[in-house]
Amino acid sequence: MSSLTDQLRSAVAGRSPLVYLLSPEEERVMAGLRAVAAEHDVPVITWTCVQGLEGEADAVGTRDPVCAMQALAARPGAGFFVFKDLAPFMTRPEVTRSLRDAYYGSRDIEHRHLFILASELVLPESLVKEVYLVEIAPPTEDEISTQVAQVRAERPEYALPEDAAGEVVLALKGLTEAEIRQVLHRVGRQAHREKDSLLDEIFAEKRSIVKKSGYLEFSPPRHDLGSLGGLDNLKEWLVKRRHLFSREALTAGVPVPKGLLMMGVSGCGKSLAVKVISSLWQVPLFRLDMNLVFSGMYGTPEEAFHKALRTIESVAPAIMWLDEIENALGMEDSGVKIDSHIFSAFLTWMQEKPPLIFVAATANRISALPAEIIRKGRFDQVFFCDLPVDEERTDIFRIHLARNGARPEDFDFKMLAVMTQGWNGAEIEQAVISARTDAYYEGRLFNQRDLSVAISKIVPLAETMEQQIKNIRSWAFSRATPASKYGRRRVA
Ligand SMILES: Nc1ncnc2c1ncn2[C@@H]1O[C@H](COP(=O)(O)OP(=O)(O)OP(=O)(O)O)[C@@H](O)[C@H]1O
Ligand SMILES: [Mg+2]
Repeated sequence: MSSLTDQLRSAVAGRSPLVYLLSPEEERVMAGLRAVAAEHDVPVITWTCVQGLEGEADAVGTRDPVCAMQALAARPGAGFFVFKDLAPFMTRPEVTRSLRDAYYGSRDIEHRHLFILASELVLPESLVKEVYLVEIAPPTEDEISTQVAQVRAERPEYALPEDAAGEVVLALKGLTEAEIRQVLHRVGRQAHREKDSLLDEIFAEKRSIVKKSGYLEFSPPRHDLGSLGGLDNLKEWLVKRRHLFSREALTAGVPVPKGLLMMGVSGCGKSLAVKVISSLWQVPLFRLDMNLVFSGMYGTPEEAFHKALRTIESVAPAIMWLDEIENALGMEDSGVKIDSHIFSAFLTWMQEKPPLIFVAATANRISALPAEIIRKGRFDQVFFCDLPVDEERTDIFRIHLARNGARPEDFDFKMLAVMTQGWNGAEIEQAVISARTDAYYEGRLFNQRDLSVAISKIVPLAETMEQQIKNIRSWAFSRATPASKYGRRRVA
């Protein structure tokens, strides 16, 4: 990734009169612009909606962006004109017109650029062709190193061990310059003799930054491998990669796992499996709440999605959980894309994302998944989670009985397997909980009889949705690897 000044230099070299600089880092971008302007010996002039256009006799009179752009027209020649608060005005027709005029008026003048500097992207369709968009990347490793060295020089008393420099820099990647400064000062003040505790501190800071974003939710590692019944192929896959998703593996050049897609019948443990990965690999898990991304609370869905991806990058190594990817990415039943921007942004990101972000996606309405998602290369593996076979249901019963304080020897597992043909894990859990509740009411531990009664009261999904489940199976068998080691040996 190129540095800020490289990005700005190439934007200027392209001679585009209108340049949109997308970045939340106003100070850093301004410093970069000043540096590049100095190289060409051109002035930097700013506009804000409070101060108006810098250098005007009646600056306040140019608070309105249209007046500012008219005043600009009266100042011919080279210059970097940086409009800081223009984004919210961009949709006004007079502003669009003025920008268009500025475009045609400045086209042939060397080093004359109007920069729109904003943290959100507001670009009317009618300006898309005229505006050159530059998405400013967060500080590169070199830039972070410089910043760390600066802090170390300014504050020698800080406990920033020299030997940890490389890892500290990596840990800080993805944060803005201001965030990096904050983190360095905060962790610097504490005595960190151990490198690991320093890194933990940085990761904790990053996690709290993610929390602030709102749409990413940290899911604590509370479910170990033993809490997932059956699904042995999937479990084996995860266990094999346990040590591969790490900086050491990355440095050693071992291919790091990219992502996993689990599709299949509802209630068979897809979401649970995602939580298990986090515990097993000891990597923090963040669920991206796409409902909030689409809610409009965080800007347009595209912007919010984009920001979410940037935020998750900033906390690498991490697992990003996309639940119900078909809804999350705006698919309709036949694989038609409702919101193709988000979908294509996601596909591109999957290919370019930093290596230490693992994407764990789940899907139910699998016929809604377009082929591009399933194609090899995006995800390392696509697993199909089917209804559990007898042995797996026994396994799941054991897990939930133990969790609910029952003694396994009080139960006839063969019988339970027969009674729950075609059931999913969620239904088994529901039966166990309901047996426990009934017995608890009578002040005793629950037994086989309570469980049999509870089972008889539940109508499993497989009965009510027989046809849908058949369709899911026939669709998935040719496209995905069975998560169960029993593969295609299925219940009727
Ligand atoms: N294989 C399993 N082993 C143990 N428990 C399971 C299993 N499958 C499901 N369960 C229980 O059922 C609950 C619901 O399962 P989960 O949410 O993981 O299913 P899902 O496949 O994600 O369903 P949906 O498609 O409806 O989101 C789990 O929290 C767990 O308690
Ligand atoms: Mg789920």
